[in-house]
Amino acid sequence: MNKKTIKDIDLRGKKVLVRCDFNVPMDGSKNITDNTRIVAALPTIKYLLENNCAVILCSHLGRPKGEFKPEFSLQPVAKELSKLLGKEVIMAKDVIGEDATSKAKNLKEGEILLLENVRYHREETDNDPEFAKKLANLAEIYVNDAFGTAHRAHASTAGVAQYLPAVSGFLIEKELQFLGNAITNPERPFVAILGGAKVSDKIGVIDSLLEKVDTLMIGGGMAYTFFKAQGYGVGNSLCELDKLDLAKELMAKAEEKGVKLMLPVDTKIGKEFKPDTESKTVAWTEIPDEWEGFDIGEKTINMFSEELKTAKTVVWNGPLGLFEFDQFAIGTNSIAKVLSEIDATTIIGGGDSAAAVKKAGLESKMTHISTGGGASLEFLEGKKLPGIECLLNK
Ligand code: 3PG
Repeated sequence: MNKKTIKDIDLRGKKVLVRCDFNVPMDGSKNITDNTRIVAALPTIKYLLENNCAVILCSHLGRPKGEFKPEFSLQPVAKELSKLLGKEVIMAKDVIGEDATSKAKNLKEGEILLLENVRYHREETDNDPEFAKKLANLAEIYVNDAFGTAHRAHASTAGVAQYLPAVSGFLIEKELQFLGNAITNPERPFVAILGGAKVSDKIGVIDSLLEKVDTLMIGGGMAYTFFKAQGYGVGNSLCELDKLDLAKELMAKAEEKGVKLMLPVDTKIGKEFKPDTESKTVAWTEIPDEWEGFDIGEKTINMFSEELKTAKTVVWNGPLGLFEFDQFAIGTNSIAKVLSEIDATTIIGGGDSAAAVKKAGLESKMTHISTGGGASLEFLEGKKLPGIECLLNK
């Protein structure tokens, strides 16, 4: 990485503002249901504490759209973080208001302060310079470690870097190392597996990966658009009729680039969108009207698995079926299992694919699970991420 990290500057005894991505899922009683992103922020926080910094953390949670809504409070995160660190985490009642400002001012070396949800201010997502400046005024150094939000040009992820020396934390460094190596210097064969509902969400990444991979596997809802583009009926399956030409172009590009494009050869279909709906498996060319495709079928699982066994680098983004419903999670789970067993570098994009791997209990078997959904996708597309671009060059 050509950006400076916390190891490249002298921050001993300094007041440091750290942008984390503490956007974690919670249940109705505000219990955190997956603390991965908080755990992933610990190495940077611990390093700063070891260097006697006064640590001011900030993050967003959900999308409160500029309003102080209590259900979006970061209070549960402060509690969880304090438990994980075995140390008090002081919670500010606001972001740049009187409470945060005075708590930040009085914060001593070795103490931690968590500001309230930065998205309580609309100026955050507007990347308002005055707001960014007020955040910057709380500290002497800015550290961005929010990989999951690095694709957003917001005040706390990018704007603030105009006013303070800005470096990355260990999480961003690690994410860029794994994702970056996979696309710039992959050990071959290099296979990408792309799933998810819509082709339109993945056009950029398919296009960019077709320049790099040896094999591209497509599953999930977007496969049906590719079936339709070849002239077959898809029943009630997800299908983007305005993307049929695009699907044809992507198939042509794969051929031109010598990329093996693997589409499902069979699909598990259901009558209705509900967990216990009647279901059966059919060939991809034989989806009846009134039925809806929800998963890849057994033949496809075997075909993908065989190909994956010889892969040396695999990048996976997007589930291969409706994995939230057990009977349609078989494709996603089977492929996760294969990835956990092969001798290859396995990189899982954040979001739903990461959730699927965790649900299958195979987390520790993967080389790297990204903490960024949208961010990892944009990175794989080859886009520049504002939260990284704004940092000091080495
Ligand atoms: C995420 O969960 O993908 C990140 O925290 C970014 O959240 P956002 O899509 O609301 O910007």
